[in-house]
Amino acid sequence: MLNKIRESAEFLRNKKMDKPEIGIILGTGLGKMVHEIALHQQLDYGDIPHFPVSTVEFHKGRLIYGQLEGKMVLAMQGRFHYYEGYSMQEITFPVRVMKELGVKYLLISNAAGAMNLAYKKGSLMLIDDHINLLSDGPLRGSNDDTLGPRFPDMSQPYSKKINDLMEQVAVQHGILLHKGVYVAVAGPNLETRAEYRFLRGIGADVVGMSTVPEAIVANHSGLPCAAVSVLTDECDPENLKPVDIKDIIETASVAENDLIKLFKGVIREL
Ligand code: HPA
Repeated sequence: MLNKIRESAEFLRNKKMDKPEIGIILGTGLGKMVHEIALHQQLDYGDIPHFPVSTVEFHKGRLIYGQLEGKMVLAMQGRFHYYEGYSMQEITFPVRVMKELGVKYLLISNAAGAMNLAYKKGSLMLIDDHINLLSDGPLRGSNDDTLGPRFPDMSQPYSKKINDLMEQVAVQHGILLHKGVYVAVAGPNLETRAEYRFLRGIGADVVGMSTVPEAIVANHSGLPCAAVSVLTDECDPENLKPVDIKDIIETASVAENDLIKLFKGVIREL
């Protein structure tokens, strides 16, 4: 894997994506932030050696490099999900490449369902901690000690420094930012009522189908990360209405304005 990481990174360096300071992963329906970036370079995933190719049609599948709030950022417009059939190593490959290119901080966004009924659809939640129910992890198999330790610590998977900044910026901008636990499930089906009861019962506030693999690899590689969920639906098992993926994407795009303000404010301060 190390050779592939280096080859991808070398390719991107040759394309002048050479000095990223901050990596950004944009979740489902959350691609608008790229318009805020003063573009230096962009590449389709399909044109980058060893990058998986995005299959879900509403994910653009592009790597964007440019300046945002005075920092050079490398943003993934569209991410890879386990439900699309990729391996965990494929899903997290871009995080390895970001680290190899010198990225110092990773900011992640996603769309998630709110099981904590105090959280309303359209609001944001800072991920304080997570539960991995994906039934697989990106570190399974032999460990390459040059990439990170065999048994990485996960006592603080999301950077306290970045999370404190997120909360400060949210207060400054009057953005409601919950803080809680994200549980990752494989999907792509949404949950049954019984599953929502179970997931709430084990301590999760929100549920989604991403982020945890990338956060695990960021921790493995010593890359401080933070993640924010845009809450796209309310998952009340006693009053569950059918959800439509179109509604989820639409809600994400409305809440996205707050997410953009939040990420920009944090990037300025990092
Ligand atoms: N469940 C899982 N993933 C999701 C949900 C949900 O309710 N909403 C947005 N992503």
